[in-house]
Amino acid sequence: MSHAVTAPSDVVSRLEKAGQAHVLSHWDRLKAADRAALLEQVAGIDWDSLPELIRTYVTGKPAVEISPEDIEPAPYFPKDHTIPGRGWNKSKYEVMGEDLLRQGKVAAFTVAGGQGTRLGFDGPKGAYPGGGITGKPLFACLADWIVAAQKRYGRTIPWYVMTSPINHAATVEFFKQNDYCGLNPRDIMFFSQGVMPSFDMASGRVLMNAPHEIATNPDGHGGSLRALWNSGAINDMRARGVEHISYVQIDNPLARVIDPVFIGLHAFAPDSSGEMSSKMVAKTDPGEKVGVFAKAQGKVRVLEYSDLPKHLAEARNADHTLKFNAGSIAIHMIGVEFVARLNSDGRGGSGAGASDPEGRAGFRLPFHRAEKKVPFFDLSSGQPVNPAKPNAVKLETFVFDAVPMCRSSIVYETDRIDEFAPIKNAEGTDSPETCRRIQTERAARWLERVGVKVPRDERGECQCTIEISPVTAMGAEDLDTARLPKRIEPGQSVVL
Ligand code: UD1
Repeated sequence: MSHAVTAPSDVVSRLEKAGQAHVLSHWDRLKAADRAALLEQVAGIDWDSLPELIRTYVTGKPAVEISPEDIEPAPYFPKDHTIPGRGWNKSKYEVMGEDLLRQGKVAAFTVAGGQGTRLGFDGPKGAYPGGGITGKPLFACLADWIVAAQKRYGRTIPWYVMTSPINHAATVEFFKQNDYCGLNPRDIMFFSQGVMPSFDMASGRVLMNAPHEIATNPDGHGGSLRALWNSGAINDMRARGVEHISYVQIDNPLARVIDPVFIGLHAFAPDSSGEMSSKMVAKTDPGEKVGVFAKAQGKVRVLEYSDLPKHLAEARNADHTLKFNAGSIAIHMIGVEFVARLNSDGRGGSGAGASDPEGRAGFRLPFHRAEKKVPFFDLSSGQPVNPAKPNAVKLETFVFDAVPMCRSSIVYETDRIDEFAPIKNAEGTDSPETCRRIQTERAARWLERVGVKVPRDERGECQCTIEISPVTAMGAEDLDTARLPKRIEPGQSVVL
């Protein structure tokens, strides 16, 4: 690292060319260690691509690529596999998925780069309580599913956990403190996603956190497709013989982290290329904040809720169901070789993330802009500023934007109560309270199926709280009736 009084001239000229010379404006007042840290941060950013990126996404707003007339609903495998004309052989795909699991060809992958900020929680989101009664952390909720699946299929299911620079150390520490949630530490790999600089909304200038530090944000869960490669996770998977990655987000403790039917469909359905597949649930209402699966220009893709024109979000079929009802629950199967191909065939240049250590151009997911309040260090006044209204643009990529890069991608409908209860907000929709209710409802349905009496009010709402660990049961069929109560009393909390 340089200790020169003037900044290295190649760095200065790179930044000048990108219109970002202000990054070094306090250079001559910085301590040697701070200079070194700043140079390291600068080296991780692809400055050459910034001017165009800023014009397109920061000072400008990207043009919508697809016209609404070209968008139609995406086909999907319905959850009722017996519907006349749309039926499919569920048990066949289940058996095929189970075979892959028994052969050790499946890994679990969780994106957990986010903090619990929206929940008022200071720490990795995965450390936030997810168990409706036990308060078991979200990480442990997902880990329990892996523990159960390993036992059932008699093979190791390695778990790859993507963190971000904000929470990497805290995440690794969490696992150490919590005995790796019952898993073998050799079979869990942690790696951090990349970051993007945060930009001043009006000028497009990169914001500074401090005189020696650029303000950055994680590059979105789309960054996982590059991070899986750059971290060596893909090579680790190849060495273990893993061919398929089961992708879930940390915010959904009900996710079936390992689902043989979905694995089988992804790997073997005739219309799946085995590259990237998705799960959906029927949307509750036109305004529900989930992306929807659509088909445009012959390709399945996800349109984020903010990008779906209102008239399409509200369009109905003759039977009054929503035309675009396939809500994304952010659960995917991804082919190991698909990720490898994206990272190595050099299609279309890179995003502005860290440069690839192997010098490959990589692929490009579109960026999405979010206007945010970002505290920053004002270089001219020398003061920190805490803005009252959004002052910055954060750029992120989304993993589902890789779906249209597949040769052919399938969508599988699942039951909302069975596997979608995300915790995103402290209160209201997608909160710990709604999650607890859905966990209880799922457990109640399983218990009722094997004859346990569950108290419900006149609207059918459960009058009790129930939490079933996946280690006890991954479905009603696993419940051991001999060890269950005959009935649950109103107001009772039951952990199974
Ligand atoms: C997301 C999806 C939405 C989907 C919904 C289902 C996006 C943009 N939208 O909404 O289509 O219907 O989930 O629950 O994703 N994460 C990282 N690194 C990042 C950003 C996010 O690891 O840089 C992780 C978070 O830890 C979290 C997940 O990705 O687990 C979701 O991100 P979030 O930004 O909360 O997406 P949502 O708006 O909730």
